[in-house]
Amino acid sequence: MISSPSPWIPTLLLLSLSLPILFFFASHILPPPPPPISLPDELDDLALFRRAATVDSIPTHKPKLRIGSTNTKPKIAFLFLTNTNLQFAPLWEKFFSVNQSSLNLFNIYVHADPTVKPKVEIPGGVFTQDRFIASKQTRRGTATLISAARRLIATAILDDPSNYFFTLISQHCIPLHSFQYVYSTLFELNSHQVAELRNLKYKSFIEIIDQDPNLWDRYNSRGENVMVPEVKFDEFRVGSQFFTLTRKHAIMVVNERRLWKKFRLTCLNPQSCYPEEHYFPTLLSMVDLKGCTGYTLTHVNWTDCVNGHPHTYYPNEVSPELIYNLRRSDFKQDYMFARKFSPDCLDPLMDMADEVILRD
Ligand SMILES: *[C@@H]1O[C@H](CO)[C@@H](O)[C@H](O)[C@H]1NC(C)=O
Repeated sequence: MISSPSPWIPTLLLLSLSLPILFFFASHILPPPPPPISLPDELDDLALFRRAATVDSIPTHKPKLRIGSTNTKPKIAFLFLTNTNLQFAPLWEKFFSVNQSSLNLFNIYVHADPTVKPKVEIPGGVFTQDRFIASKQTRRGTATLISAARRLIATAILDDPSNYFFTLISQHCIPLHSFQYVYSTLFELNSHQVAELRNLKYKSFIEIIDQDPNLWDRYNSRGENVMVPEVKFDEFRVGSQFFTLTRKHAIMVVNERRLWKKFRLTCLNPQSCYPEEHYFPTLLSMVDLKGCTGYTLTHVNWTDCVNGHPHTYYPNEVSPELIYNLRRSDFKQDYMFARKFSPDCLDPLMDMADEVILRD
């Protein structure tokens, strides 16, 4: 039998020639999958979280805490999470320029993505160099935003034993009330009282939602049934990324490893994967639902949201009425903060800072 040249040879030849071309196009058209957190970053974080999780149980720290003594003044730690310049720094500056007696009632910490270009500017004023904590790259739709929030929380826990509430703020957030108003609201004071650390009484302000049309997609955004056994579907919750946690919950959050193993996995479906909006509500609802209010103090307008971004306010929308409307909530407390605002809202907001926003 005389063998004729196999018809496969030209086909194979063509295929082997076109493969590199196919790969070239695939890698240029499809976005690369978001990078998981690198091992060195993970180890760095773990060391920091371990120290933060045990700090309150180390006896040498106890005298500084003075829980229950009358001269203990608990503080609010404001945690700024940003990957651009702090565009509303002048407004926050005003918010923090409080009278002498309130000066030692807060601390500020900033996590700025070190890989963005141009580099995040340090605005000066209250936002000085030493407010900026050791930071790492963050990317939307990845667990890096969970890590960044936990890094801020852990740093604040370690930095000052008087940090009692931990409030996460983004570069798009603005205050809706004065600092004194926020402080009195969180510590439930009327004008004559002085805040004390009454650990068992206060709750964390974090949104915890179990009814959402996209809950199933969100749960499976790392692959079907990947979350079990750590998180069963009926334990999965969603909520706002911007929360205020008590010290007790802050320590729980940085000490957590079991759920993190799952939430840190790469998102396969970015449209429904917002790890930072899922991890904290799920975790806190599993460990201490009763210790949470179930709502956030940060107003976000989800009407007509696009690509998972809420409504962004532009200068033509900024007015005293907007501030009054944004403060209004269905809960026990007013909203204290709001997002998102475009950077060019700074001027109109500054114009009414003293008369409207910070006047209570
Ligand atoms: C929320 O956004 C919508 C447009 O997306 C707007 O019409 C509405 O007035 C906004 N609500 C508030 C309270 O600003």
